[in-house]
Amino acid sequence: MCGIIGCILSSGLVAPILFSGLKRLEYRGYDSAGMATICEGKLYLKKDSGKIDDINARLNFMDMPGSLGIAHTRWATHGAPSRENAHPHLDCSGRIAVVHNGVIENFLELKRELEDRGHRFTSRTDTEVIPHLIEEGVESGLNLYEATLQAVRRLRGSYAIAVISTVEPDKIVCARNESPLIVGIGDGAYYCASDIPAILEYTRNFISMDNGEIAILSLGGVEFRKISSGEIVSKKSFTVDWSVELAEKQGYPHFMLKEIYEQPLSLRNALRLQEQYLDLLSRFIDRGERVFLVACGTSYHACLAASYMFSKIAKVAAFPVVASEFLEQYGDSVGIDDVILAVSQSGETYDVLRAVDHARMKAATVLGLTNTVGSTLTRISRAYIVQQSGPEIGVAATKTFTSQLIVLAQLAMKVANLRGKLSQQESDHLRDSLKSMPEVVNRVLNSCADNVKLLAKRYAKKNLFLFLGRGINVATALEGRLKLLEITYIPSLAFSAAESKHGPISIVEKGVPVIFIAPRDSTRKEIVGNIMEMKARGAEIIALCEEDDGELIGLVDHHIPMPKGVPDILSPIPYVVPLQLFAYYVAVERGLDPDKPRNLAKSVTVP
Ligand code: M6R
Repeated sequence: MCGIIGCILSSGLVAPILFSGLKRLEYRGYDSAGMATICEGKLYLKKDSGKIDDINARLNFMDMPGSLGIAHTRWATHGAPSRENAHPHLDCSGRIAVVHNGVIENFLELKRELEDRGHRFTSRTDTEVIPHLIEEGVESGLNLYEATLQAVRRLRGSYAIAVISTVEPDKIVCARNESPLIVGIGDGAYYCASDIPAILEYTRNFISMDNGEIAILSLGGVEFRKISSGEIVSKKSFTVDWSVELAEKQGYPHFMLKEIYEQPLSLRNALRLQEQYLDLLSRFIDRGERVFLVACGTSYHACLAASYMFSKIAKVAAFPVVASEFLEQYGDSVGIDDVILAVSQSGETYDVLRAVDHARMKAATVLGLTNTVGSTLTRISRAYIVQQSGPEIGVAATKTFTSQLIVLAQLAMKVANLRGKLSQQESDHLRDSLKSMPEVVNRVLNSCADNVKLLAKRYAKKNLFLFLGRGINVATALEGRLKLLEITYIPSLAFSAAESKHGPISIVEKGVPVIFIAPRDSTRKEIVGNIMEMKARGAEIIALCEEDDGELIGLVDHHIPMPKGVPDILSPIPYVVPLQLFAYYVAVERGLDPDKPRNLAKSVTVP
């Protein structure tokens, strides 16, 4: 997730507006930033890695001339944070500048094609193909709009782009597919930006761009067209009366809720990983004598779920290990034939890095899965994958968890295919199911929110909760519990439902809420038994179960209907969503700020 902004003014300098927009967009990414303006037929460019204020202190964006320009704040997905990889990116001639938010899936093939035709690339980003594609259109006699249209028609993946060029120095062309983009209309000014807060200081009049649209901004007005047909689209503007603070959360009261609702998008981005990295990691995993999945907190829960994925489909025993215990538990035995897959959203968690350092010393192969390009984990791993969730502001991990799950599922599937463990039919079915996950989560969000809110209201004052599941959904139960615990401070337990009789059932008494994660999977018969034993002790049962699961619905006090037909190994992805919402609404009911839980930090970088 990056932030982009563009602006044309009838008079005055654009740089201060772009700079303040960048500051407002900083929450979307902050590893590098840049700006391009046009003045008297010349293109000016400044960019670098680092925080926006630091870059500005070094380069002084404010002295950039011109009343038209674009700017970008980056959250690296392709290529580490560096000056070369910072946006805007230029074509070979230096006449066209582009800023981009999103992921271009087919950039490698486009890059090869363009290089064969003599284009020179200076970065490792996916974005850089765009100015070169536009350059080819302009060289062939197309105007800036036509050349951009032709270029975006070649792109697969997600993008919000803004393009300027000295060949038509009075226009900004922008286009959108899946990444957010809005147009702002001011007094003698037109803007485009990733979100409303970036320009709320300057206008309250907006038009949202929809997927598959391209817009041409000039002082004469804005024209919107369809990318597919070039047909003009007429659009309505709307006025925003939000405060800047509310706008940063896109109208959501908290970042956590915004991030929960972002999951369909972050899952789509996590399905757009570069195949060659998935291939590389899966080959290392396949060759490992033993595979350890090492992480903390939520990321550990993703690893626990992944251990079931690897075992069930790839027939690989992968050991999930809490990073802080890795040294004591496996430190003496880990060796050259082992593979450690470290999973860390931040890539900076102390215990994870410590485990990784030790494993490296013992010559094991270290792989990484992270959300942060340029993090320590990416620097010390033999190979790594970036999950592409964008920055997560809420301390409670939500969208990064489901993205980790979907990346790990893709890896497990790759290893399964390498080992010949999946038939064509199984493989096709899994691939289709993976692809459907963003939509499945979208449906869950739409269908369960009201219901979950009511349940949260009803149970907010309880002082004990149990979360139970079996099989892979033990991980879901643990994650649901962690969400509730960390933002509501309510003591709660989670464990395999099978363990109840071995001790924990002793604390169950009348009225204790027990949340069962109960899809119709291979553990189904046993789960019914576990529900019965909890009911018998007076527990109030809330079940997350398939929408037509009449038998279960008849047994429990409340149920949250879930979509049918989700394969077992993917079920934690949709099933964790109501639990995230539940924790969020209970926190709100108790008057707590879910974004800032007490005693916790987003990233734990100390022992
Ligand atoms: O950045 P990491 O994924 O390594 O962080 C691990 C945990 O600190 C993190 O998941 C933590 O448990 C979250 N607050 C959970 O919501």
